[in-house]
Amino acid sequence: MSKEDEKLAPYLCESIPTGIRLGDGIVGVRELPNSSVHLIASDIPYGIGTDDWDVLHRNTNSALLGSSPAQKRAGAIFKKRGKPINGWSNADRLIPKQYYEWCATWAKDWFRVLKPGGTVFIFAGRRYAHRCICALEDAGFSFKDMLAWLRDRAPHRAQRLSVVFERRGDIEAAERWQGWRVGNLRPAFEPILWFIKPYRIGTTIADNALIHGVGPYNEAALRRYVKRPDNILDIGFMPSEVGFHPTQKPVRLMQALIEIATQPKQLVLDPFAGSGTTLVAAKNTDRRALGFEINPDYVRIAEQRLSSCRKAGGKPKVLAETIPRLS
Ligand SMILES: C[S@@+](CC[C@H](N)C(=O)[O-])C[C@H]1O[C@@H](n2cnc3c(N)ncnc32)[C@H](O)[C@@H]1O
Repeated sequence: MSKEDEKLAPYLCESIPTGIRLGDGIVGVRELPNSSVHLIASDIPYGIGTDDWDVLHRNTNSALLGSSPAQKRAGAIFKKRGKPINGWSNADRLIPKQYYEWCATWAKDWFRVLKPGGTVFIFAGRRYAHRCICALEDAGFSFKDMLAWLRDRAPHRAQRLSVVFERRGDIEAAERWQGWRVGNLRPAFEPILWFIKPYRIGTTIADNALIHGVGPYNEAALRRYVKRPDNILDIGFMPSEVGFHPTQKPVRLMQALIEIATQPKQLVLDPFAGSGTTLVAAKNTDRRALGFEINPDYVRIAEQRLSSCRKAGGKPKVLAETIPRLS
């Protein structure tokens, strides 16, 4: 065994149990050894929804998730804002900063547990992705690229302004504002943020690949999923795989990301695992995977998906081990 291998032996961490664990992924990652993970791939809370797990700010102003005074005057057409739109009050304007602070609570530990040269793929919302990028940069990561995942079924919810005026009985304004909408263009892509943990000074990426098994990306593997190795990924759902989670991602998309950045048997971590898509993709591609999920219902779904998933092209394989849990 070379000196380098000897140094690495304690960090191979084949002893880390794989599977999905019920518990807080921020705390769970803190318990993992240094430089033990080859890839972190996670669809983190975006901080823009109204589910408990997605509300990461301290804004309690009444207009945030109810109706603003102006909306109340407008009547039933604006029942709820639904999503926080910053700018209406100081508390609204603090939301992006608080999202940064939330990302900073785990970014340092992600940096510590990842191997040098290892990749992080984060699905982040378009509105606050920049805050997530800054938090990971401040934790030591290099921001490598922003990929775009094309969503084939993105709903378009921008309200027609003419309809608002029609309901108010203002026909003249309704005609003048024909064709105008309140809101955004159809959200046809989601950003995937690609970070690298810098490798040791004095080594090259080729040295790092030999020492830690990570660093470069596997273009040949990517070409099994897409025609061209572009940074726009058009990889959708299979007909039978939807309905496990409201923000579910396609298994094949996660497989492509895992195969870009890792080799078989390496360890993939997803601290916000949801219904376990990353873990299923890792299993399909013969990687080891550990996930954390705070909601027991999604943990159960992930366990079921893992026990019925099959190796690519192979027979269905049942997960024999008892899945460890944090409680
Ligand atoms: C965006 S969803 C991931 C969905 C996933 N891509 C899928 O395909 O099922 C994020 C998940 O993180 C979970 N979550 C939020 N905060 C968490 C925490 N601190 N620890 C572990 N899981 C958490 C939520 O319950 C939610 O299921």
